[in-house]
Amino acid sequence: MIQKKYVHTNLFPDLESIPQDAAIDVLEQSVYLSGGELVQWKGLFSKVYSPIYVHNNGTLEPQYLGSYPEMDGNTALEVMNAAKLAYNQGTGEWPTMQVKNRILHVESFLTAFLTTKTEMVKWLMWEIGKNKPDSEAEFDRTVDYILDTVEALKEQDRNASKLELNSGIYAQVKRGPIGVVLCMGPYNYPLNETFATLLPALIMGNTVIYRPAKFGILLIHPLLKIFKDCFPKGVINVIYGDGKETAGKLMESGGIDVLAFIGSSKIANLLKRQHPRPNRLRSVLGLDAKNPAIILKDADLEIAVNECVIGTLAFNGQRCTALKILFVQKEILHEFLQKFTHKVEQLKVGLPWEKDAYITPLPEPNKPQYLNELINDALAKGASIVNEGGGLSHHSFFFPTILYPVNSSMRIYSEEQFGPIVPIIPFDDIQEPLNYIVESNYGQQVSIFSNNADTIASLIDPLINQVCRININTKCQRGPDAFPFNGRKDSAEGTLSVIDALRVFSIRTMVATRDSENNKQLFSQILEGRKSNFLSTDFLL
Ligand code: G3H
Repeated sequence: MIQKKYVHTNLFPDLESIPQDAAIDVLEQSVYLSGGELVQWKGLFSKVYSPIYVHNNGTLEPQYLGSYPEMDGNTALEVMNAAKLAYNQGTGEWPTMQVKNRILHVESFLTAFLTTKTEMVKWLMWEIGKNKPDSEAEFDRTVDYILDTVEALKEQDRNASKLELNSGIYAQVKRGPIGVVLCMGPYNYPLNETFATLLPALIMGNTVIYRPAKFGILLIHPLLKIFKDCFPKGVINVIYGDGKETAGKLMESGGIDVLAFIGSSKIANLLKRQHPRPNRLRSVLGLDAKNPAIILKDADLEIAVNECVIGTLAFNGQRCTALKILFVQKEILHEFLQKFTHKVEQLKVGLPWEKDAYITPLPEPNKPQYLNELINDALAKGASIVNEGGGLSHHSFFFPTILYPVNSSMRIYSEEQFGPIVPIIPFDDIQEPLNYIVESNYGQQVSIFSNNADTIASLIDPLINQVCRININTKCQRGPDAFPFNGRKDSAEGTLSVIDALRVFSIRTMVATRDSENNKQLFSQILEGRKSNFLSTDFLL
């Protein structure tokens, strides 16, 4: 049981005390989207419970939120056939549509999407426990991502609106779609990271099957009708159900041309291996990470502490880019620990809609148990919990826990905790954190905290080929979305950014001809008569 001082008010609400603007109705989500139809599901349903418990008539239980189709593999295959039909081997209306018209569809989608913000924010709070400001930010960032993608595509199209002459060959080189894309986003950003792959895949002319993550499923419901109304039949399809049964079947069928998956490397490898013709499969993957921060003796400690608090504990540490291990140089260890611990102890534990709530309920029902195992393992091997409240949990609430000193014998040293535990390792020699990074299975990002240009410079060169982003006096993060987001080793495959995503979901393709009078005349006739959607020098403004 949690210590009294941390539950001075009850952490979970009574049904009646939930504020009006946070209250949500149960949603029995009984349809899926296939071939432009909202199809009524007649099979079994999975129930959705919130990580938020509610006191109701004397009992404290996770709030029931609704249900969704527990689709079987054969139905998933039928949905895939709808996506294949819309693609029609690249001859469908959507893959051959002019870019400007595809953009019009996306813009009409955006207009409707903007009206869903209030609802989306509520679902994010109830389904994954994300606090209100972060839920709103996730929605707004998605809107910006859509707008920026449209602009980037226009720019890409403008750059390709010309013919090139090289070694006696005229050519127009553009980017074309690849085929049918299976998109699966993660539960920590069920909206934003879904659109980070779904949108570029769509706008480049692919057709898409989207399967929501394990949490953040009902929030997709308002989008089904909008997808149906704004895109041609079969261009976007939404399936539900167990990943092994649905995504597994789709991969085994060989009908998936691109796998866009954000989740664990274990599942990604499983899915990739199921494809019978791996040479035909393109994969765009955002996977595991254990980003370290190295806090050096000459760091500005205020900055280092502030960045490390949000870096480790924003959304309870459930970000792939979160700082998951801190290496602190011994000279400043005491002061850093003191300041860091003090800040962590100030973080408000509360419900997602409560003002300033930072630590909120965890959506994975078994997570507290897993986090406790990591903590007990570390304690048994010599670490201590250094902050008040550390190690305490109350149903889905897990209090931030700083473990010190951590060493390589502990599970927390190498396992990605994806939760509110902060392991701290003291070091004398910079080679210690460098070795950790070189030997790690992960290679996403690192943060370095120092105010010494020579020190920073001496670390950039050995680290730049270990990770894909070095953050100086700044936490690790994905944004801004204009910058490349990727990783080495088990952390990613392919690069996502507004521009890179347009590239990974398309293939360079061209029309070429030998430089002769006859061929030039033929090209002119096609261009001037606007006879082809592809071979065209029209400009998009
Ligand atoms: O969970 C992984 C996300 O891509 C992290 O994104 O750095 O914006 O929180 P973020």
